[in-house]
This record gives sequence, C-alpha cells and structure tokens, in this order.
Amino acid sequence: MEKTKGTPLSQELLNYINDLFPSEDEFLKELNKEARSQHHWPPIQITEEQVSFLQFFLRAISAKNVLEIGALAGYSAISMARALPDDGKLWTIEPVRNRCEFINKKLLEIHMQDKITVLHGKAGKILVEYTFPVEFDFIFIDADKMNYKNYLDLCTPILKKGGVICADNALAWGQVAEKEISDPDVIGVQMFNKAISEDKRYKSALIPLGDGMLFGVKESN
Ligand code: DHB
Ligand code: MG
Repeated sequence: MEKTKGTPLSQELLNYINDLFPSEDEFLKELNKEARSQHHWPPIQITEEQVSFLQFFLRAISAKNVLEIGALAGYSAISMARALPDDGKLWTIEPVRNRCEFINKKLLEIHMQDKITVLHGKAGKILVEYTFPVEFDFIFIDADKMNYKNYLDLCTPILKKGGVICADNALAWGQVAEKEISDPDVIGVQMFNKAISEDKRYKSALIPLGDGMLFGVKESN
C-alpha cells in the first residue's frame, strides 16, 4: 500500500470526521436554512470540518480578538466566537446590509450581541477608516477574492506580532494550480497565495481542508 501521498477526503471520510467532531448545532443548521430559503444567499459558508479546525486552532493559540472579512450569514463568525474566552471579541465586516441585519437579529437570539460586532461596509474602506480598539490575534479572510492581496496589506498592521492570518478558498475551487486562467477570482487567490508565500513577515502553510485554508503567522512587523 502506498503510504506517503496523503489521503483524498471522500464524503465517507468527511462524515466520519464530522460525526466524531461535530461543530454544527441546531441553531447553525436553522441559520443556514433561513439564509438559503428566505434570502437565497449562496451556500458558500465554510464546511463543518473547517469550523472544527478553526475552533481548535483559536483555542490552541488562546485567541481573544478576532477579525473576519466577509460575514455572509454569520455562520463562521458565530462559530469562531464560540471558541473565544468570555472576554473574547470578534468583529466581522460585511458589505451587504440585509446580511448585517440578519446576523444582528441572530446574535440577539443567542445573546452574542456583545461578543460580535458586525461592521457594515466595504472591507477596503473600513480597514482604512475604522480604528479597532485592539490588535488582532487572528484574522479570517473569506470575502471577494480579487481583493485578498489588498486585505493582506491592510490587515498586516492590525495583526499583532505572533498573530495568525487565515484565508479561505486558498485552492480556488480546485483551480489554483491552473496556469491559463482568466477567472478573476482564481487569479485573486493565486496572487494572494504567492504574495504571502514570499512575504518575509509571515511563515505560512496551505492546509487542504474545505477549499483550502492558507495560514500565515506574522513573525515580524
Ligand atoms: C465562493 C466564495 C467562498 O468564500 C467560498 O468559500 C465558496 C464560493 C464564491 O464566491 O463562489
Ligand atoms: Mg470561502
């Protein structure tokens, strides 16, 4: 048996992982259902095993202050916030107003309105204009792919030394290794991956979970 190549994740294996380490409760299931059936928002939230890993990771680094770029319906924001200590806080930036309203309503239901701040607006503008009261332990980028590199540049100064940045969709729907690509989203991911891989301030790794997660730890300013 070949033992050195890694194991492709079949649905059976993913089910095994998620049965052992579930991260999606009834509240999150219902949130997704409403996001789809009432609002017709796309089912592009991170996967259950990605949530399990992010929650594990946030605990492992004792993360307290987290920033998310791209909230959609709040699935990942709420999931990450659940892994923070009592005094932990999460800010999430979302440009679509009714998504912000939806999330704020959901936060009231679970009494998380003081833990999560939803910032309405374009991340490129908010990251320039808004003064956050903290430096971040962890920043999760899961938004418009063409701006990933821009977000890396804007987030690096507000990420604390030793903090971690993570970008979703680092495998660009499986197309990241293709050379003749014209899809601007794939190109955006390729540019981000290359930029952080060459960035002397970061030590990075691409973890093939979900559609790929690029993790970088900021070792210098
Ligand atoms: C898309 C965006 C995502 O962040 C994702 O995880 C999957 C798909 C999209 O824009 O299609
Ligand atoms: Mg994503």
